[in-house]
Parts: sequence; C-alpha cells; structure tokens
Amino acid sequence: MTDSNTDIAVVSLAQPLESIADEIGRSFQEYGFAVIRDHGIPQELIDRAEELSKEFFALPEDVKKAYHIPGGGGARGYTPFGTEKAKDANVHDLKEFWHVGRELPEGHPLAEFMADNVWPDEIDGFRKTFSELYSAFETAGGKVLEAIAIHLGLPRDFFAATVEDGNSVMRLLRYPPLEGEEAEGAIRAAAHGDINTITLLLGAEEAGLELLTKQDEWKAVEVPEGALVINVGDMLDRLTNGKLRSTTHRVVNPRGEAAYRARYSMPFFLHFRPDYVIETLPSCIDPENPTDHPEPISSHEFLLQRLREINLA
Ligand code: OGA
Ligand code: NI
Repeated sequence: MTDSNTDIAVVSLAQPLESIADEIGRSFQEYGFAVIRDHGIPQELIDRAEELSKEFFALPEDVKKAYHIPGGGGARGYTPFGTEKAKDANVHDLKEFWHVGRELPEGHPLAEFMADNVWPDEIDGFRKTFSELYSAFETAGGKVLEAIAIHLGLPRDFFAATVEDGNSVMRLLRYPPLEGEEAEGAIRAAAHGDINTITLLLGAEEAGLELLTKQDEWKAVEVPEGALVINVGDMLDRLTNGKLRSTTHRVVNPRGEAAYRARYSMPFFLHFRPDYVIETLPSCIDPENPTDHPEPISSHEFLLQRLREINLA
C-alpha cells in the first residue's frame, strides 16, 4: 500500500473537481505529476489509436521518412529514430515519433504559428482517429486545468481563454526494442522537462517512466491500466513561480524480457495560445518567494527558446 497523502496522487476525474483540486495540487507541488482515472477518453478510442500508431511505425523506414519534414523542427509528421536530443544530453534518444497539431480554419489569425498537419496515406482512418483523440485530450486537459485553477484560488475558468486555439501537440511515440548496440549512455528518453503548460500521457503502463524527486532520486511512476499521467510543464511552472513544479523525467531502458519489446506511448502537450503572455501570477509571489522571472514572455517566444535547446528549432 502506498500512503495516499504523500505519494503521487491517483484521483478520479469523475469526482467534483472541488474535491480533488487540492490533492492534484499537492501532488504537483511535490512531484510535478499526478495520475488520473476516469479521464473520459473512451477506451475504445485509445485502443484504436494504439493500433493505428503501431501500424504506422511498422511501415518501411523509407515510407515513414517521406513524412519527415526537413527544416520543420519535427513539429508535424514523422521524426526518425536518432533525431531528438534532450537539452544538455550528448547522445540521441532511442525513439521515433509522429506529431499531430491543431487544425485551424483557413485564415485564422493564429495560423502563422501552426504548421499544417500531414497524414499518412497508407493507414486508413488515421486522420479521423487522431483528430478524435486530439479533441478528447483537450477536453480532459481542460478539466485538469479547472482543478488547477481551483487549487490556485483563481476563477475556475481562468485557463480556458489562455489555451483556446493553443498550439497543443499530440505525439505518438515508439521506443524500439533494444539491440545491445546503443550508444554508451543512450536511453529511451533522456532526462528532460516538458516545455508546455501540462502534459497528458497515455500508454505509460509499460514500465520505464521515472521522475526526479526533490531529494534528487529517480522514482518510477506506476500507472494503473488505462490511467492518464499528468505532469506540469515549464510554462505552468513559470506562471506559478515554481509552486507547481515542472519535474525532470525520463524513460529508462527496460531490463529482461521487456528489453525485446517496443514501448508505445502517446503524450499530449497542452500549450497556451501562442499570444498568451506568461506573467507570474501575483498570488504565487510573496516575500519568501519573490518572482524568478519578472519579465513577461509570450508563450510562442518561450517555446522557440526551448526548441532551440533540444535541436528541434
Ligand atoms: C515525452 C515524455 C514519456 C513516455 O515525450 O516528453 O516524457 O512515457 N514521454 O513516453
Ligand atoms: Ni516528457
């Protein structure tokens, strides 16, 4: 048994948000992570998405590479194995991925910030399924943000306008089976913080995800079947003056049998609108915690700064 008052929170999103807000908040303050059950994303949709993700990654390398957009920073379409590198890492992550972004109507004022999606012709139903999943993630993320607002003493709908038409990105990830010839020190995902507001992660039941505690120890994140893992990103950390922590995390290489299996996961990086200006919340500043970042920064500029650091811009 774990002590529910001190470990990573596991809460049901079907409860009234007022009753879970502080439990989520406590977990974000201590770990930067919380686990959500009853998140409202239909299991049938998750299963369908996982199936299609596997189908895509099983395509021949040259077919997948046709969906790599040179100079696009991996923002959309396919990013091959051996491309992304965590900030300060010397070796590449052991992963390949596909990114789906927001679809905006023609002529939308924020269109300049969001590249068009590409879709693989080879996989039937890909666009439909992942468009559905993108919306389902947004709905679940909106509820989590309401709980966060309640916890912070803000109006419950505070975040709605900050994320409306934001450039959230859904990532389909595949970590291939290990071959024993990986570069020294290379792991599935090297230690990093997420850049965005909050991340919603599906498919982390397969072991490997670890977070770095305040005591500087790696702690495995245990995920019940079908649950959603939520973590705080750098933008929310900055907005809350570090009260809600963007925690360093990683995906380690499995030992034993699991090393011969690929691992698939699907994070949804929920972003603020590109033109939302992140300025420390006054309620998160007090004499003991003066603001670390007096200058406001637009969410778009913040993102660009970080992408340059990880080789994607
Ligand atoms: C990420 C990430 C975790 C996972 O893509 O930023 O932390 O379990 N993924 O794949
Ligand atoms: Ni991450």
